[in-house]
Amino acid sequence: MEKKNRKGAVLFSEYKKGEGIKKAITVSRENILFEIRESKLKGRGGAGFPTATKWTLVSAASSEEKYVICNADEGEPGTFKDRVLLLEYPELVFDGMVIAGYVLGAKIGILYLRGEYEYMKKPLEDYLESMRKDNLLGKNILGKKGFDFDVIIRMGSGAYVCGEETALIESLEGNRGEARNRPPFPVTTGFLGKPTTVNNVETLASVAHIVIKGGEWFRKYGTDKSTGSKLLSVSGDCEKPGVYELPWGTKISELLKLVGAKDTKAVQIGGASGVCIPKSQFERTLAYEDLPTGGSIIIFNEKRNMLHVLKNFMEFFVEESCGQCTPCRIGNVKLLEGVEMIEKSKYTFSYINQLKELGRSMQVASKCGLGQSSPNSFISILENFKEEVFSSNGGNNGK
Ligand SMILES: Cc1cc2nc3c(=O)[nH]c(=O)nc-3n(C[C@H](O)[C@H](O)[C@H](O)COP(=O)(O)O)c2cc1C
Repeated sequence: MEKKNRKGAVLFSEYKKGEGIKKAITVSRENILFEIRESKLKGRGGAGFPTATKWTLVSAASSEEKYVICNADEGEPGTFKDRVLLLEYPELVFDGMVIAGYVLGAKIGILYLRGEYEYMKKPLEDYLESMRKDNLLGKNILGKKGFDFDVIIRMGSGAYVCGEETALIESLEGNRGEARNRPPFPVTTGFLGKPTTVNNVETLASVAHIVIKGGEWFRKYGTDKSTGSKLLSVSGDCEKPGVYELPWGTKISELLKLVGAKDTKAVQIGGASGVCIPKSQFERTLAYEDLPTGGSIIIFNEKRNMLHVLKNFMEFFVEESCGQCTPCRIGNVKLLEGVEMIEKSKYTFSYINQLKELGRSMQVASKCGLGQSSPNSFISILENFKEEVFSSNGGNNGK
């Protein structure tokens, strides 16, 4: 669990184990919520829901039992920043969970760890044990009477959908990982039917810094609507892939330069469930108001075949759809069939347009974010790379 020499203004700035907890217990819960609201922090798991709003709802819910869940399922293709945070900066993530416990009045935190990260379980458990020795976990934390909180680790079930917060809760309860109907939302009816906050690893790590340095400090980075910084997992055709911390508002062209990407043809923003943009859009910015992302950035150079790229994504969604709702179960299969028909040059443009329409209806009719976002790459690749996609196979049937 050794730190690399990472540089970044917010998350990778200096922080000492337990610092946020020490500060938190000297101020009121309202005071911490105020700073988080001031920071305008939005959830880093992809949906961008304001953290202060979520915590206010859990805090207001009347129940003796509440839960803090850290979502470390990290299943989006091309995302690996939560792994880096957990391995190199566990103090940020776990302090963030303890602070959440303090603010919300929860006694138990659960780290839902991606199944493939089994190798991280032991070092993380050792780290939690060291926190117990330092009285940063356990009973009467740091001498604060009645402040009891501990963290347990549960392994993820190996399905992409289990990263969706209600499917995650189902999986934690020992059920098949399928999204729940909402409302009710986890903030009132979450794990075991109790008020629960589910937060991404990076969101909780950001909270630890905000408690120390304040909401105003955090807001200095990024844009008005997208405050702070974002961890990006950069992969694909570039010289320096890896995890980068950059302020929201960074242009794609700036990012490409930083990571040594040459002859870039396309950038997939937000993983397989995100959108794919062409060169003409590289001056756009990473921001909730422009190109939102949970952190996955995949770079494709001129040598890549965009239809192959799309096929790969659609195969992933067909495999990962939980099958519970029809738009997602059938829709993804139909979109993949469409890609295969384009490959074989057996399509008409009216068929392609119908598939795009199908994709748009999946975006609204699917039960959870999986089927709501899986058509994004289909629609954006067919629209932004139409010349290549419909000519690589001759496109002679396209009418
Ligand atoms: C199919 C699917 C997979 C998801 N996977 C993750 C994940 O691996 N990690 C994560 O934090 N959020 C994931 N989410 C988003 C969560 O449902 C939820 O919005 C998030 O954990 C809330 O945390 P935040 O408010 O801190 O962003 C996923 C959503 C969907 C629809």
